[in-house]
Amino acid sequence: MEILILPDPQQAALLAARIIAKELRARPALVLGLATGRTMERVYACLVALHREQGLDFSHCSTFNLDEYIGIPAEHPGSYRSYMEAHLFRHVNLAAERSHLPDGMAADQGAESRLYEEKIRAAGGIDLQLLGLGSDGHIGFNEPLSALLSRTREKALTPATRQQNAAMFGGDPGRVPARAITMGVGTILDSRRCLLLATGAGKAAILARAVEGPITAMVTASALQLHPKCQVVVDAAAAAQLQGIDYYHWIFQNEPEWDDFR
Ligand code: GLP
Repeated sequence: MEILILPDPQQAALLAARIIAKELRARPALVLGLATGRTMERVYACLVALHREQGLDFSHCSTFNLDEYIGIPAEHPGSYRSYMEAHLFRHVNLAAERSHLPDGMAADQGAESRLYEEKIRAAGGIDLQLLGLGSDGHIGFNEPLSALLSRTREKALTPATRQQNAAMFGGDPGRVPARAITMGVGTILDSRRCLLLATGAGKAAILARAVEGPITAMVTASALQLHPKCQVVVDAAAAAQLQGIDYYHWIFQNEPEWDDFR
């Protein structure tokens, strides 16, 4: 794992977008795993700007989102399909048939979960998985105690997650769906590269547990410590409780991999 600390949320998001753009330019048929949440809005705005201003081409790319709420239709403004349309899909030249989210309205969520895994496999697996960090340490919707080898499946959301995501449901956690379908921790760990983005002081304590604490199903993001190529991009506020800040700064300033990004 590498931790890259940028001064503010905008520069952190821009770095994440530039990492994605570099991969996409190197491999136009990239299979990209996508995430939702407020943190990602800046990343998608940067990608849209790169598409408009520098012709970043999504026409051969496939995408797989991490998760979707169960029980609300795709057209619902709170659905992750609506989020993706609003922030990315409708602004870039991604083929509609290659942008995948789990179907939260499928009658049989077990069958839908197996189908989603099969679609990822058929696409050749995920090359780069973008991830946010839940306030309870989740990745996707892998809530505390999710098996670290789990695959795509239905999960009940914690009160903390429903609270965190209430803004898209009129501010009322009771209106946030109680269940979601999410890639499992094991599905995420199968990606060839993982890129986690966390910004803001509110993420500082849980980020420190996820990256410097023990690997535990209580903080599913901690499983990323097992991944052979995982980069964690944070702003200074989210990095505030990390022990190894000086080393992480040194890495970004000195490692050749980051020459193009400084
Ligand atoms: C939701 C998503 C997660 C995401 C989290 C972060 O819970 N299911 O994948 O990491 O939001 O949200 P935010 O960026 O708004 O803090």
